[in-house]
Amino acid sequence: MKNKSALITGVTGQDGAYLAKHLLDKGYSVFGVHARRSTDTLWRLRYLGIEDQVTLLSSDLTDLSSLVRCMETSQAQEVYNLGAQSFVGSSWDQPILTSNVTGTGVVNMLEAVRMVNKDARFYQASTSEMFGLIQEPMQSESTPFYPRSPYGVAKLFGHWMTVNYRESFGMHASSGILFNHESPLRGIEFVTRKVTDAVARIKLGKQKELRLGNIDAKRDWGFAGDYVDAMWLMLQQDVADDYVIATGVTTTVRDMCRIAFSHVGLNYEDYVVIDPKFYRPAEVDVLLGNPAKAQKQLGWKASTSLEQLILMMVDADMARVARE
Ligand code: NAP
Ligand code: GDD
Repeated sequence: MKNKSALITGVTGQDGAYLAKHLLDKGYSVFGVHARRSTDTLWRLRYLGIEDQVTLLSSDLTDLSSLVRCMETSQAQEVYNLGAQSFVGSSWDQPILTSNVTGTGVVNMLEAVRMVNKDARFYQASTSEMFGLIQEPMQSESTPFYPRSPYGVAKLFGHWMTVNYRESFGMHASSGILFNHESPLRGIEFVTRKVTDAVARIKLGKQKELRLGNIDAKRDWGFAGDYVDAMWLMLQQDVADDYVIATGVTTTVRDMCRIAFSHVGLNYEDYVVIDPKFYRPAEVDVLLGNPAKAQKQLGWKASTSLEQLILMMVDADMARVARE
């Protein structure tokens, strides 16, 4: 029997790389949308040893015709739309680009699917940032949204477009409302990786301090490797739907720092400096997800604790910084 074929936008990102590995391990042919850059964006695929197993197609989420060609070339039965300008902080500096890529990019991808193969199953990378100024202490699929950044607003547009294409055209389009998930492949601009990289540099004598913004913010952090399985599970269901994917535990940035520094025998209070430069114009103070529906319907549960995750990231950064 012919292998199933999947198309991933954002294949060079953290989740894209883990998802590509996950699908390759299941025997899929994996195609990835590759937005050309002047810098090396393939390091994550290399890290996982799959650079040569993913077929990269030159395209961009803002370019509908190139997405149509990706659908034609890949003959994908499953489409995972993970591409985005995903850094919340930058979305105030580049609100229009964020809207075009993270918002309109979703409808471009939905249109490409609709035009080439309406029966392909579609996954949209929605986010807990849509809850923003939280309306309930624990957020579930029925919690009202209140985004707090241009990124959150763009994602909300993409989320409702996905729901709308499902309801209007009968497409198998699902939206995963994922809470923060991290790994050694996390971009350095996000707070967990910024911290674990700094811990390694400070421990190895290459950095003196770590400048952070609001360390009282709370997040529900899980491991990206666990979360890509939830994406795949959503597309294996008979009926498309929306699911919150989270651990159900929330922790402050401060406590995450404590865990990371203490792993190498240091006290975070000796190194962390608060720098208002990293405060955001509007903050999401706390996020806490209720993954009960995913557990019940998908049989999915987070299997990595925050402590295990942070130790994994610190160890990977210690090894990487030592090699430099
Ligand atoms: P990431 O590491 O920042 O990856 C983003 C990906 O999008 C990269 O491959 C990037 O390509 C690509 N991209 C950027 N602009 C593009 C464009 N114009 N056309 C096509 N591709 C473009 O993000 P991630 O952490 O893997 O997250 C994956 C998705 O889940 C994103 O949509 C994110 O918003 C969403 N999400 C993430 C989390 C989380 O905690 N990680 C939680 C909820 C939702 P380059 O490498 O070439 O820049
Ligand atoms: N990045 C960063 N840098 N964040 C900091 C810093 C700092 O120096 N200091 C404090 N923080 C706080 C932020 O203000 C925020 O409250 C929290 O740490 C987490 O910030 P990020 O790691 O940048 O992640 P995020 O929660 O804003 O967004 C991530 O998760 C979303 C899901 O909730 C991204 O992956 C989004 O793409 C994703 O949708």
